[in-house]
Amino acid sequence: MRVCVIGTGYVGLVTGACLAYIGHDVICVDNNEAKVKLMSSGQSPIHEPGLPEVMQSAIAKGKITFTTDIAAGVTHGEILFIAVGTPALPDGQSDTRYVEAVARSIGEHLHDGYRVIVNKSTVPIGSGDWVRMIVMDGMAAQGGSSKAEFDVVSNPEFLREGVAVFDTFNPDRIVLGSSSDRALKLMQELYTNIINREFAEDKTLSPVPVVVTDINSAEMIKYAANAFLAVKISFINEVANVCDRVGADVVEVGRGIGLDSRIGQKFLQAGIGWGGSCFGKDVSALIHTADDYGYNTELLNACVKVNQQQRVLVVEKLQQVLKILKGKTIGLLGLTFKPDTDDMRDAPSITLIDQLSRLGAKVKAYDPIVSQSGMRDGFSNVIVETDAERLADGCDALILVTDWKQFKSLDYAKMVPLMANPVIIDARNFLDRASLETAGFKYVGMGR
Ligand code: NAI
Repeated sequence: MRVCVIGTGYVGLVTGACLAYIGHDVICVDNNEAKVKLMSSGQSPIHEPGLPEVMQSAIAKGKITFTTDIAAGVTHGEILFIAVGTPALPDGQSDTRYVEAVARSIGEHLHDGYRVIVNKSTVPIGSGDWVRMIVMDGMAAQGGSSKAEFDVVSNPEFLREGVAVFDTFNPDRIVLGSSSDRALKLMQELYTNIINREFAEDKTLSPVPVVVTDINSAEMIKYAANAFLAVKISFINEVANVCDRVGADVVEVGRGIGLDSRIGQKFLQAGIGWGGSCFGKDVSALIHTADDYGYNTELLNACVKVNQQQRVLVVEKLQQVLKILKGKTIGLLGLTFKPDTDDMRDAPSITLIDQLSRLGAKVKAYDPIVSQSGMRDGFSNVIVETDAERLADGCDALILVTDWKQFKSLDYAKMVPLMANPVIIDARNFLDRASLETAGFKYVGMGR
């Protein structure tokens, strides 16, 4: 099928590349010229395991091209994905201006034929009708000459950064919201190979469940899924904080409750709390939407509060050990919001850097993917080292912030003599306490 994906970030590029890989003819549109140039040469502008290989294979087969020309994309695609960012505004509501610009532009370039316009971006509940209206406005701007028809489908994305290619070929479910049977049929056809697990790791599994529903429910599913996961993490963090006080080990508790099939093991790891580009903004947007309709989301408000406190708690634990932080050097192991990504949006490391700097500490960091030049404006005070031993050199404490798997096998015994004070705060309960203590570290976990 002919597909156009507008917005080639973490979601759009992975979606476009994977659809091209399975045989569709894809044009990816982005208004960032430098990105388009890079992608056209087969390079990925983001760090996502497996993505360059998928892109290069699709390029070699002539299945994908990249352009800044939205008119070309709209003319080409029978299915048009909107996959631009929807960041949070300062008051917490979703900033839909990029979706609006793209929807208008689609309308302005729709001249004839039938299109399915797919909201892949996470958009506030009710955006299906709103996108329809904006596209119609764009079409009207053609002066009545457009003979095109279209339907809007909500097809929220659930991929996880760091395993985005895997998730695209092995989804837990596909959610399609629309009132148009014609559009839904085309969407099912688009995803046939994926639904039948032809590109899945385990091809023997039964087909991927497809949740066909109305647009509002599809949009709500995305928000509710992220809100649930955020609540689950805040819950175990709250349990960890009680564990700290009563002398229980939250790792044992998480395992013990997670074995209950109604609860499940995932997202029960206590630590510094959730971050990243989605949870914070999506929970805020849901709180905001509920508020617009006169409902106060007590549970979600508390979930956000617990998460904010959890980041501060890591600094408090450091203060308990080191007392005065002014003049101390603190090393952060990891900067990205999670492993296997270069994404720093709403990363807990940012809050730590802010707080530690405010308290007069000098902050150094080492991350397998983020270099000094990758630090955004305002963080030039952080020295990004090129390896963990350089990081440890002269530090009064280390904080494990991101659970990159290579941090498990660092030579910690070699780091101890380099440090002014061998303290480690394991803010993800990720490292082996016994071996760190044997190496000479004072180990502080979260709720253990
Ligand atoms: P992103 O910020 O990485 O990418 C957005 C892309 O859109 C950028 O490349 C930007 O240059 C481009 N863009 C902006 N305006 C444009 C325009 N007018 N024309 C063409 N291109 C334009 O965003 P990301 O992370 O991919 O997120 C996209 C959407 O998917 C958001 O709504 C997000 O909530 C949702 N989502 C994100 C997930 C993630 O893990 N990042 C997972 C699931 C959903």
